[in-house]
Amino acid sequence: MESRLLITGGAGFIGSNFTHYWCETYPNHRVVVLDALTYAGNKETLADLQNRPNFRFVQGDICDRSLVDRLLEEEDIDTVAHFAAESHVDRSILGPAAFVQTNVVGTFTLLEAFRSHYQTLAQNPNRRCIFLHVSTDEVYGSLSPEDPAFTETTPYAPNSPYSASKAGSDHLTRAYYHTYGVPTIITNCSNNYGPYHFPEKLIPLMCINMLLGKQLPVYGDGQNIRDWLYVIDHCRALDTVIHQGQPGETYNVGGNNEVKNIDLVRMLCQIMDELANDLPVQPCEKLITFVKDRPGHDRRYAIDATKIKTELGWQPSVTVEEGLRQTVEWFLNNRDWWEPLLSEEYQAYYKQVYANY
Ligand code: NAD
Ligand code: TYD
Repeated sequence: MESRLLITGGAGFIGSNFTHYWCETYPNHRVVVLDALTYAGNKETLADLQNRPNFRFVQGDICDRSLVDRLLEEEDIDTVAHFAAESHVDRSILGPAAFVQTNVVGTFTLLEAFRSHYQTLAQNPNRRCIFLHVSTDEVYGSLSPEDPAFTETTPYAPNSPYSASKAGSDHLTRAYYHTYGVPTIITNCSNNYGPYHFPEKLIPLMCINMLLGKQLPVYGDGQNIRDWLYVIDHCRALDTVIHQGQPGETYNVGGNNEVKNIDLVRMLCQIMDELANDLPVQPCEKLITFVKDRPGHDRRYAIDATKIKTELGWQPSVTVEEGLRQTVEWFLNNRDWWEPLLSEEYQAYYKQVYANY
């Protein structure tokens, strides 16, 4: 049966990649995107989908219960793919309130609305209904070098207002399955990268700063480790979970690509040197600058994705070398997408963060 999806946060980085992925893979499925278009949301990213008959974009807040109720009902939604969030750790340090509002209250609002709507859906036992909550590996806290990677049973130990608010939303999502029987699934994924990544996150920031000849700010000693997953692999994982995942379960999703920040930045520099002509400063490594560390900076994240591999058959397909090359190429070829995002608001944010660090 064809699904009818509500995608929250579909104008953001992962949500827009997922929306494109879903519309291309399942052109007959109904897709409704609900996005508040915060600084991180960009309607232009979905411009090519606007004229599709099966696609609808709604600008609105996930905390708006009556709007969510109306969309679930009038669109006869059976699947929620919930991406909408405040997602940047550095912004959560500057202003945590928005994180609690959107990530905790917003997820609660969606869960309440879906719980009520599900009573109608459950009357048709042949219809697959899923509330997929897209979360992060950051809820598990920080690892030291010798620790085993995070599994689905690793205790939660969030360290930033961002990860704490995501942890809160994960707990609510779990509780709605156990208490009310709402068919929720949680995915906890490692750091994504790829097209349409907002300029202030590590990889796009480095690519854009190289193109502009600006410094490449590496926090602390650059030895922090992240596991990197190409965003399209994440979209494939979420598709697998929506179709085959067990309600009430959690699945960790990772790229099996642990890299130190400084090594990642050096790889990006080499790729950029190779692919770009007329860079303001070359080699790009000359631009690397170590800056003051992020407060509470988690040292290492690593994902054990055995469960999703063995139970559902998903594994990443893009190596970090291939994915980074494609990403650098994308930022080189899509100046029209990112240049307008370097707005006054962005410059003010940049000043605030990098003055502190
Ligand atoms: P993003 O910041 O790029 O996009 C978030 C989107 O949500 C934006 O389009 C924004 O306008 C929208 N939004 C924010 N508040 C809203 C609200 N109140 N109502 C409706 N829409 C709202 O984020 P992202 O990097 O694409 O992350 C998407 C999800 O995936 C988040 O839940 C994040 O926690 C999770 N995640 C991200 C990563 C990563 O590496 N980026 C890794 C694992 C999990
Ligand atoms: P980020 O993209 O913010 O993701 P997260 O903190 O959620 O993992 O940052 C990835 C890593 O890069 C993280 O260890 C912080 C570091 N970083 C820098 O060193 N410099 C920067 O300018 C940014 C934005 C991040």
